[in-house]
Amino acid sequence: MSNVAYSRHDDIAVLTIQNPPVNALSLAVRQGLMAGMDQAEADSGVRAVLIVGEGRAFIAGADITEFGKTPQAPWLPDVCNRIEASPLLVVGSMHGVSLGGGLEVALAAHYRIAQPSSRVGLPEVHLGLIPGAGATQRLPRLIGVEKALDAITTGRHIKAPEALEMGIIDKVEEGDPEAVGLAYTRSLLDEGASRRAVSEMPSPQAIDWHAAYDATLKKGRGQISPAQAVRAVQASVEQSFEEGMKTERQMFMDLMKTDQREGMIHAFFSERAVGNLPELKGVEPRALQSIGVIGGGTMGAGIATAAVLAGFEVVLIEMKDEAAAAAHERIAGNLSGAVKRGKITQQKFDALTTVALTVSTNYDSLASVDLVVEAVFEDMDVKKDVFGKLDAVCKPGCVLATNTSYLDVNEIADSTSRPADVIGLHFFSPAHVMKLLEVVVADKTAADVVATGFALGKALGKTSVRAGVCDGFIGNRILATYRTAADHMVLDGATPYQIDAALEKFGFAMGPFAVADLAGLDIGWMTRKRKAPTRHADERVPTYIDRLCEQGHFGQKTGQGYYIYEKGKRGGVPNPAITRLIEEEQTALGITPRAFTDAEIVRRYMSAMVNEAAKVVGEGIAKRPLDVDMTLVFGYGFPRYWGGPMKWADLQGLGAVLSDIETYAQEDAWFWQPAPLLTKLVAEGRTFDDLNKEAAK
Ligand code: 3HC
Ligand code: NAI
Repeated sequence: MSNVAYSRHDDIAVLTIQNPPVNALSLAVRQGLMAGMDQAEADSGVRAVLIVGEGRAFIAGADITEFGKTPQAPWLPDVCNRIEASPLLVVGSMHGVSLGGGLEVALAAHYRIAQPSSRVGLPEVHLGLIPGAGATQRLPRLIGVEKALDAITTGRHIKAPEALEMGIIDKVEEGDPEAVGLAYTRSLLDEGASRRAVSEMPSPQAIDWHAAYDATLKKGRGQISPAQAVRAVQASVEQSFEEGMKTERQMFMDLMKTDQREGMIHAFFSERAVGNLPELKGVEPRALQSIGVIGGGTMGAGIATAAVLAGFEVVLIEMKDEAAAAAHERIAGNLSGAVKRGKITQQKFDALTTVALTVSTNYDSLASVDLVVEAVFEDMDVKKDVFGKLDAVCKPGCVLATNTSYLDVNEIADSTSRPADVIGLHFFSPAHVMKLLEVVVADKTAADVVATGFALGKALGKTSVRAGVCDGFIGNRILATYRTAADHMVLDGATPYQIDAALEKFGFAMGPFAVADLAGLDIGWMTRKRKAPTRHADERVPTYIDRLCEQGHFGQKTGQGYYIYEKGKRGGVPNPAITRLIEEEQTALGITPRAFTDAEIVRRYMSAMVNEAAKVVGEGIAKRPLDVDMTLVFGYGFPRYWGGPMKWADLQGLGAVLSDIETYAQEDAWFWQPAPLLTKLVAEGRTFDDLNKEAAK
């Protein structure tokens, strides 16, 4: 069955793409476009073809579900060339999104009109690819190399008015896409406008390709496709259109075979699957209009900022007037950042900081809120005291959430008279910026409370992941383990600086020691003290960093940690005191430091991460491997192009990962205990992704 309908309006043929939800260019659509062009050209009296999309988008691009399978003809570049080569006048009328192959179809048309609210873009780089149906050859001819490179290497969505200014589209007009398109086509015919093929436009001007390639490579932090896109655009200048198309196709097909492409497509689908939980099928979230936040420190202020920006009424409770004023100032500071970045107007800022936000020291102000997020000190007694007060003042049905990083949400829930209403909502710092929200489900949490957690996450623009209760939930628990692996390597001879550099080269936004400085070394110090009484005798815990903390050095906020930070300068330089303290500890422990290669550093770090992640999934703390992947990608700076640690492990082969763990276990059997789930999967010849697929059935 064709997914492209043919209709005729006087001398204009209309091809309407009907492939919900987003008109992806599946095989049937490609065939339908070919057949539609044939029919229009054979239809006597037809002078022009209008291409439109039915439903919410013009075309969202190639059908991503076909990637990785053998491509079937007609291929999209041929469909585009077929459209462009038509002797009829071809017009695209774009609404919603025109992305990737969708924009490429539009670029093959001779004229383009778009709705003011629509967006265009070439997001292929976010899938580990470059455009593969002519955009790297047509767009530079149409708008010049620099603007084309901006669109292709960033993959950003460009709003119609900007696309008009850039020259990507010819006209912007509000109305029904088909009606507006027909009127535009009619006016072009009446004017006697001629066929205008972008491929026949003159070759664009060259730029400094080396500089563009190097800059893009650096910005990609290990991601290869944006830099490849520079090479493809270079071909549009240096080769004929036909040769350039072949070059683009070859690069596209080569990238299709890469791990990065597989990782990024995994991330694309996993990002959408995280909120898709069987336990939430048919469960309605509770109504959410107003939100209470307890504590206006780092996290509370960030959560309140995110909530007012999303349109909620927020009541924030602090202990004393002074703290309340400081909290208000913190939120205003966050919001003024949004004004500076052009995200909100000054007028909106005024409304958000006055009407939408109430800061109070009186818990009674929470009587009518629909959900409360507690973000007070990380101390069980303080939390229980707060939940006792919430239990007394909040209306029945109000969701009571804690932002605790490590504490037992079951214990907090059981301290109230309504444990079914209690949940963990673990935000990440800064809470108005970071995309991740862990929705921590306790034993007695009601299903509609879980659904409400996800609904809040969605309203705040977060990617929410379901987690079970354990020390550190999904993310911080896994972090603690791979951080420990890094600490062990430091004791054995790798420097924190070599480790940070190796992991940044691997693709992490920051290395673990730079992150520790940013988060504050006092947090880890307190955690080590908290865990000391229950520590196993075989556990290796470095103490050199405690010596630094004892001297009052907590990282960036005090100017000194693993690195030394100078005011006004970005980043830090290695702290010689750290090197000295490490050497002292090695001497005390009788360790002869040895050399580590960057590859070994990555391998040990990743093995520790994957092993703990497999325990987290095996114990049901994360329901599926993809939940771990998205937690690490959205909350911990894990390189998206690997898809997440579990996808990375699949790509390495689970047998190889397990074999590394078993080798490391010969030196430290306590730390490197293989996860039972990993051992089982290797024995059965299955992958983590098999578990994702089984869960989706
Ligand atoms: N192919 C297949 N399925 C797609 C798709 C695509 N290109 N784009 C979206 N979908 C699916 C989603 O997986 C989702 O499925 P689900 O309901 O089963 O989970 C459904 O369509 C709706 O998508 P969203 O939930 O993401 O809906 P939104 O409204 O939030 O976003 C969107 C819509 C902006 C189109 C977003 O889905 C998106 O960014 N899609 C990807 C666009 C893209 O990357 N296009 C380039 C493809 S590569 C290409 O074209 C190569 C070419 O150069 C040869
Ligand atoms: P913070 O110390 O910056 O802020 C805590 C605030 O709570 C202070 O302003 C304090 O005055 C207020 N407060 C304490 N007791 C109160 C009470 N009874 N009633 C009202 N207000 C009270 O702490 P931060 O960093 O914001 O952490 C808060 C919580 O969030 C902790 O549970 C922490 O583990 C968690 N968290 C912290 C993250 C971080 O990166 N800082 C990340 C994710 C979670």
